[in-house]
Amino acid sequence: MLTVAVLISGTGSNLRALLDAARHPDFPARIVVVGADRDAEGLAHAEEFGIPTFTAPFRDFADREAWGEELGRQLEVHNPDLIVLSGLMRLLPASLVARYSPRIVNTHPAYLPEFPGAHGVRDALAAGVPQTGASVIVVDDGIDSGPILAQERIPVLQDDTEHTLHERIKPVERRLLIDVVRRIATGELALTH
Ligand code: GRF
Repeated sequence: MLTVAVLISGTGSNLRALLDAARHPDFPARIVVVGADRDAEGLAHAEEFGIPTFTAPFRDFADREAWGEELGRQLEVHNPDLIVLSGLMRLLPASLVARYSPRIVNTHPAYLPEFPGAHGVRDALAAGVPQTGASVIVVDDGIDSGPILAQERIPVLQDDTEHTLHERIKPVERRLLIDVVRRIATGELALTH
């Protein structure tokens, strides 16, 4: 059984989807801890499922390295096989990435390498492209630059706002993420740097 830690910053709708998937006895992974860099709404999903949570508020630490050390301390309590960044809006320090790589995956609401970074949806909309996408990648020490594990195209509609487009992307992200976690757990998908 693959053990998974999930890190979030926001509403945790992608986390919720993973929690729901992991409920099924035939799902080969289970979430053992959920962490956040702030008092994120999404932690409530973990609490509802009785899964341990922690918060490491970024602003409470002197710098990114110190924050990363706290994340590392919290994570090693559970010693997860895989870390899923699902709406974590902070870059992990290189030291933490190096410690867990390549066992860290991230979901991104764009068709990488198009529109990396914190505003992938807004940037795609601003670029006026006819389609964008959703991606699941291995986290490396760049910005959304790691190996792509899964991705899918999503049309941009004429009347799309950032919100409507993002809400159409998220279900695709969730489906891709659940499938990637399943394939990692069964060994079908090998993680490489
Ligand atoms: C997702 O689109 C994720 O890819 C991006 O932020 C969003 C998080 O949404 N980094 P939620 O918190 O899972 O609802």
